[in-house]
Amino acid sequence: MASTGRARRWRFGAVAFAAAWLLLTAAPARAQGNTPDPQSVAEGMRIFRQKGDCQSCHGWAADGRKMDNQMPDGANLRTSRLGRAAIIRAIKCGRPGREMPAFDRLAYSDGRCNDTTEADLRKSGLALPDPAATLQAREIEALADFLFEKVIGKGPMDRAKCAEYWGSEVDACREFPK
Ligand code: HEC
Repeated sequence: MASTGRARRWRFGAVAFAAAWLLLTAAPARAQGNTPDPQSVAEGMRIFRQKGDCQSCHGWAADGRKMDNQMPDGANLRTSRLGRAAIIRAIKCGRPGREMPAFDRLAYSDGRCNDTTEADLRKSGLALPDPAATLQAREIEALADFLFEKVIGKGPMDRAKCAEYWGSEVDACREFPK
């Protein structure tokens, strides 16, 4: 009865394969749920403070208390009412004429932002400040993960949120009463 044994082994193999496949495909599906990947949130926070230098206009807490007095006043992102697509668009395309830089390198060269080119902007007298660095789509997604996890709709910064934001009670948290 060697053939039955082979068939049983084959069936077992097929079930094991299906189980492994389910496990593999279920994991990324979970990661795309409501809680963003913590690594992406951490990367977004780093980009906010360093590479994108968003904090010089928006403040480290993204509440519009800017870090650099020479910079324009950034919006309070904690009270932003924008959804994810609009947030990503604001970062990619900036806000011509309103001091928010465009972080997509091709924002105004191939029509991806409102079908508008740099020449169009110049013609209508709409200036854009230069971004600290241009960002890739993946980096902008990480920024959105960070903003939705730690900033947007989270209310004003306080002592407890500050410690949660930085991962511990850093010096910056001392300004908030206990
Ligand atoms: C040079 C100053 C400056 C820098 C740097 C800057 N912003 Fe802004 N940002 C602004 C200003 C000013 C506005 C408000 C524009 C307006 O009035 O529409 C704004 C608006 C926004 C908005 C739209 C908010 C809303 O609810 O309409 C988002 C999102 C945003 N910024 C994210 C970022 C991120 C993320 C970075 C870094 C990658 C960044 N900004 C860097 C000045 C800045």
